[in-house]
Amino acid sequence: MREIVLLIGGGGREHAIARSLADSEVDLYACAGNRNPGIVSLANGFETLDTTDTDAVVEYAEAVDATIAVVGPEAPLAEGVVDALEMAGIYAFGPTQSDARIETDKAFQRRFMAENDIPGCPDFETFEDVDAACAFVDEYDGDLAIKPAGLTGGKGVKVIGDQVTPEEGKEYIRNSGYGRLVLEERLVGEEFTVQAFVANGSVRTAPAIQDHKRAYEGDEGPNTGGMGSYSDVGTDLPFMDDGDYDRAVEIIEATVDALDEYKGILYGQFMLTADGPKVIEFNARFGDPEAMNTLPVLETEFLDVLIAARNGEALPDLSYSEHATVCKYAVPEGYPVDPEAGARVAVDEESAGDALVFYASVDERDDGIYTTTSRSFAVVGLADSIAEAESIAEDALSVAGDEGLHIRHDIGTSKLLQRRIDHMNELRET
Ligand code: AMP
Ligand code: GLY
Repeated sequence: MREIVLLIGGGGREHAIARSLADSEVDLYACAGNRNPGIVSLANGFETLDTTDTDAVVEYAEAVDATIAVVGPEAPLAEGVVDALEMAGIYAFGPTQSDARIETDKAFQRRFMAENDIPGCPDFETFEDVDAACAFVDEYDGDLAIKPAGLTGGKGVKVIGDQVTPEEGKEYIRNSGYGRLVLEERLVGEEFTVQAFVANGSVRTAPAIQDHKRAYEGDEGPNTGGMGSYSDVGTDLPFMDDGDYDRAVEIIEATVDALDEYKGILYGQFMLTADGPKVIEFNARFGDPEAMNTLPVLETEFLDVLIAARNGEALPDLSYSEHATVCKYAVPEGYPVDPEAGARVAVDEESAGDALVFYASVDERDDGIYTTTSRSFAVVGLADSIAEAESIAEDALSVAGDEGLHIRHDIGTSKLLQRRIDHMNELRET
């Protein structure tokens, strides 16, 4: 039987999913709020719809006779799109609305870790009262991270001692209007991501990746959805010690165990501290940009993972090519605070040389592809070393130019990598 896969979502992550499925024996359909030209060119059909409208997604899935659905972003998961598809008899690779709370409700996530004794949980308290939260800031001995409990696209967290002072933190708690908050111990170290394919009790992990949340070079400026990311040959990153990756995998496995019937991608974001990896957050989906590092090096067919998941079987063992990857996003100038749309995207798959191009939020017009107010496109270099992958990504960006675009050119450079290594060495010594 030829599988008919419906992909839900239209960003760079979903373009990477589409590309990883396109070479398999599959009829691919996709739906998203924006017409992603990369996905459109790979799919047999594309429907523009609001992916948080679960009825609309189910209707399209039924119209194309989908045998498997893959959910890219968190917003439809939060709305229960998996539950709705399964009510309609369509297997969906993604967690139910209830299991997706591991991402969509940070208060639930922290309590879940504490109740199930999952290692790597920082000290935390949850609050529904602004005055109590502010009092906790005053009382707490040390710096805190202030986190809205709900989804904020990675942009809601403020860290005292890093981005804000305690006074500014309290002002943020009072003025931001978030009804539910988590306040937790500020973790100091280097961040990394480990994603796992999960179904039927199997947990298959991917190599570690480092994303760059801050908008500007040198890790300055506001938090974004992620400006770019890199991975090394093998599972570790250059600043990690032996055992750090395994410890992160153990945390993911313990979480899957406690969640019972979780399926889909479980994304762990870790802070590698002097005491080992601690959990910053879990996501219930691939990371964006991290999917663009992971799927191009996945040698096992992603379709085979999906079929095994749907059939109730153990997931296949995964193999990855021996490549380092560097992914750099081009975002509109002013992103994320005051983004300016309307710049022409001058690079495409042909002109990108050895790099892969993934489209995100772009607007396809008769005379070309233009930026919107979200992340525009990413280029990914694959090579034997991070340095070579970085230079492949930069070559593609030089074709794109930087008119109306902002790019963190420092991602994946040896200078920034050395800073990460030095930072970890310093922390381990003290
Ligand atoms: P999140 O939305 O949970 O991914 O948080 C966004 C960013 O805030 C993370 O990538 C971290 O850089 C930072 N962050 C979150 N929690 C903490 C914490 N407990 N300590 C230090 N930084 C944090
Ligand atoms: N790269 C961070 C995220 O996808 O949430």
